[in-house]
Amino acid sequence: MSAITSVLVENRVFPPAEASMRGARIAGMAAYDAMCQEAARDFEGFWAKLARDHLVWTRPFTKTLDESQAPFYKWFEDGELNASANCLDKHVGTPVENKTAVIFEADDGTVTTYTYKDLLLRVSRFANALKAQGIQKGDRVLIYMPMTVEGLIAMQACARIGATHSVVFGGFSAKAVNERIIDAGAVAVITANYQMRGGKEMPLKAIVDEGIAMGGCESVRSVLVYMRTPTACNMVAGRDKTFEDVLKGQPDECPPVPVGAEHPLFVLYTSGSTGKPKGVQHATGGFVLWAKLTMDWVFDIRPDDVFWCTADIGWVTGHSYVVYGPLAAGATQVMFEGIPTYPNAGRFWQMIERHRVSVFYTAPTAIRSLIKAAESDEKVHPKNWDLSSLRILGSVGEPINPEAWMWYYRNVGGERCPVVDTWWQTETGGHVISPLPGATPLVPGSCTLPLPGIMAAVVDETGKELPNGSGGMLVIQRPWPAMIRTIWGDPERFRKTYFPEEMGGRTYLAGDGAVRDKERGYFRVTGRIDDVLNVSGHRLGTMEVESALVAKTDLVAEAAVVARPDELTGEAICAFVVLKRPRPTGEEAKQIANELRNWVAKEIGPIAKPKDIRFGENLPKTRSGKIMRRLLRSIAKGEAITQDTTTLENPAILDQLAERN
Ligand code: WTA
Repeated sequence: MSAITSVLVENRVFPPAEASMRGARIAGMAAYDAMCQEAARDFEGFWAKLARDHLVWTRPFTKTLDESQAPFYKWFEDGELNASANCLDKHVGTPVENKTAVIFEADDGTVTTYTYKDLLLRVSRFANALKAQGIQKGDRVLIYMPMTVEGLIAMQACARIGATHSVVFGGFSAKAVNERIIDAGAVAVITANYQMRGGKEMPLKAIVDEGIAMGGCESVRSVLVYMRTPTACNMVAGRDKTFEDVLKGQPDECPPVPVGAEHPLFVLYTSGSTGKPKGVQHATGGFVLWAKLTMDWVFDIRPDDVFWCTADIGWVTGHSYVVYGPLAAGATQVMFEGIPTYPNAGRFWQMIERHRVSVFYTAPTAIRSLIKAAESDEKVHPKNWDLSSLRILGSVGEPINPEAWMWYYRNVGGERCPVVDTWWQTETGGHVISPLPGATPLVPGSCTLPLPGIMAAVVDETGKELPNGSGGMLVIQRPWPAMIRTIWGDPERFRKTYFPEEMGGRTYLAGDGAVRDKERGYFRVTGRIDDVLNVSGHRLGTMEVESALVAKTDLVAEAAVVARPDELTGEAICAFVVLKRPRPTGEEAKQIANELRNWVAKEIGPIAKPKDIRFGENLPKTRSGKIMRRLLRSIAKGEAITQDTTTLENPAILDQLAERN
């Protein structure tokens, strides 16, 4: 188990402040309990009412949940709706129409605002441009864009015409782009010439070109290019067109195409424990419902709030809480192109002050790195800015250690703002275990309790629920509308990965370890129990990194990858490598380690670069030839070896592997 064990510095409970409870959608634990009871009493009725109240249907559904093909659950199946209409059109003729939808702050600090009306117009025109390229309902469109409004518009435009988008994070490699185009069978790619991050211009289109050139991408008929900067990029005649070209003369209106509730809204690739990343497929109705509901419940979003989720649209958090949730909720949101440390590590605090942000949602890694920066430079400490607009703080992506929680609570939230530690995954579509700001007493380091309607539990390998206080596997025992529907093109892998036979085939296995506390039954997620790494809140598979390393066939004979705890990034990647040449030491070892890091960055993306690379003459294996990963984890952590090593062929390699480069 790659658990991050954090010591509870203050096992204190923070009851919700009077101010957070006042007017909250779910005010007080009695209200929360009542909702949970309602869901338990009439599960389908509970969800049906929410779906009717919170979504606009062009054709109402008559059946709420179909479990006949479990675990391939279907929600609201005969209903029809459009995701984009539920984010934009529904506000037309209401006061939200002229409200600011997006405050976009570019890398260089330039601010542009868009009202709901502006966005609807832009999305409609872009949707018409997509149609003019021959893109239709059911087609898959790969999006490889910077963190700009144009990315959001591209996603909404796909949804508007019923095309399924598949966004690839702008930090992934050409190879990742290639594999995702092929797996999804994308007919078009939407990208930009460059992206701006931290004052640097970085190529996107060139990476798309390289990815397509790797072969197998014949499905791609057009590449649409947003010119983010004035710098020219390569354009392939007949295939590539600029946004300006395709938007020319497009009408301002585009009727949203109604789709069935189960129609795939998007496919988002994420890492699993084995093999290649899997395409997590989400359904239109359930996903949009949950994005909207969790904005209401977890962020308690109100008409005058300014919401800011710092996640990139390339991750699920950007899908749920930048592109769909805030718009479905009619909120004003900040969208930020740049990075938290440019021009200095006070950027987030400065932006909160500048835009009067009231609900702020970020990742523990960002918080930890900003703590470190503030500790070494007073000038970037949050106390230098007026953060009094803040009302609610959120955390996502990895366990937040209580120390970071306390700092966030005190120095950013001024001890006024509840911290909602939201546990969820690409597969869950939105928050599933999280405090409610106007109800739940908070405990630092705990994501507290499941949201109403979410039947989460901690169980053993057979699916039997464990008593509070015992660590086990985190599962969700009943389906929920925003759940993953399947793995794109691989239903068998879906079933095997998430609904193991040993647990009865109907319980969703999250892949995380968890324990519920004895006093309140609060959940504390301890980390992944499979071979998935979580580096700075980014998910990567150990096998993925291993495959990348051994793909360097001229150099690498064998590689094993494990995670070790890291103060800043939560986990860090540690790779043990056997070369096809004598084991290097000193300068040579450093040089080869760097060569391998750059190689991995090229194969997967810079986020996958191993922090530690250690060379051995071989790897520790059991008699049957299995790599002793547990032993490698101890070595990576720098722990004393307590495991039995008598079966090792060459115990001397343990010393070799302990040496860092
Ligand atoms: C981890 C990101 C502890 C967890 C939304 C999960 C968390 C994986 C939390 C999913 C949290 C996410 N506390 N761990 N609040 N939130 N995780 O798919 O291990 O990128 O399985 O989705 O991140 O990562 P993913």
